[in-house]
Amino acid sequence: MSEALDQYINDLQTLAEDAKKAFESAKQKEDLEAHRVEFMGAKNGHLKRLQKGIGKVEKDEKRAAGQKFNEVKQAVEQSFQTAQDRLANLSASEQVGPRFDPTLPGTKRPIGRNHPLTQTVEELKRTMARLGFEVAHGPEIEDEWHNFDALNIPASHPARHPDENFYLANLTQKGHPLLWRSQTSTVQIRVMEKRTPPVRIISLGRVYRPDKPDATHFPMFHQIEGLMVDRGVTMAHLKTTLRLFATSLLGEDVHIRFRPSFFPFTEPSVEVDMSWQGGWLEMGGAGMVDPNVLKAVGYDPDEVSGFAFGLGVERICMRRHNVEDIRSFFENDVRFLHQF
Ligand code: PHE
Repeated sequence: MSEALDQYINDLQTLAEDAKKAFESAKQKEDLEAHRVEFMGAKNGHLKRLQKGIGKVEKDEKRAAGQKFNEVKQAVEQSFQTAQDRLANLSASEQVGPRFDPTLPGTKRPIGRNHPLTQTVEELKRTMARLGFEVAHGPEIEDEWHNFDALNIPASHPARHPDENFYLANLTQKGHPLLWRSQTSTVQIRVMEKRTPPVRIISLGRVYRPDKPDATHFPMFHQIEGLMVDRGVTMAHLKTTLRLFATSLLGEDVHIRFRPSFFPFTEPSVEVDMSWQGGWLEMGGAGMVDPNVLKAVGYDPDEVSGFAFGLGVERICMRRHNVEDIRSFFENDVRFLHQF
């Protein structure tokens, strides 16, 4: 055997081993394809290169060289086929290969959430639903009848002064002024006008007053209004309801306190405080529905009685989450909002 043929056969064997090793090392289809091109590529593959090498051996040895080449070619094709079968049988997770590191944390997609006030409102509805109160709605733009007159607030009352309210300068209804409602007590009237007792509702929504913004005031805020009218409703029902409301919302250790007060639409009237940080926090007003209000909606004060309360939602939310400044609810700073 000539030295040239000997060398040629050596080269073929080395190629067969290299190809086998490369195919076996492939961890994913893309790797295997790259090796296929490297060894079996029709243009520049190693096999193609060695096939051309047959030309360099002596004429009488060409036959032997060709035979050896065919053997090696088949062997290379066989090891490629084996590798291909192996990859096809891998499970999906094994196939992904080194580009995917399952120990890395996943991609975080920011998901929105409800505003803390909305969360509190939902919680208030759930709590009061358990006491049998259904939700009622009323408009934010009101007439003076629902915001004042029917609530026993006479025309001369200072609470009706333009400095205390947002009257809508160019908007009237049948010649009467309209305003952004200053309290949700308007909904008491709207509900009672439409229904006969017994009534047990809450209403949640925005109210507007021209207050200078500070840590505890904002010209727009939310109230929860409660109203219960039936035969024999007393102040004891009111206090029990508000205490259950406060403890189920804020915890068993929360106490409430009534202070004598005055509202034109309740008699007697109280301010409602809840315990907070060793002191008391004012949550809103309450009282027994004034007979004049019952008369204004066509109820008979000798037949039925009722209680009503109006509490600030922001105050409750601040109390729940230890928020110190009411203005943070409306600045829409995501760093603040993300905490809830
Ligand atoms: N509407 C009163 C306010 O906004 C609160 C209140 C509601 C008082 C119901 C008594 C009864 O201050």
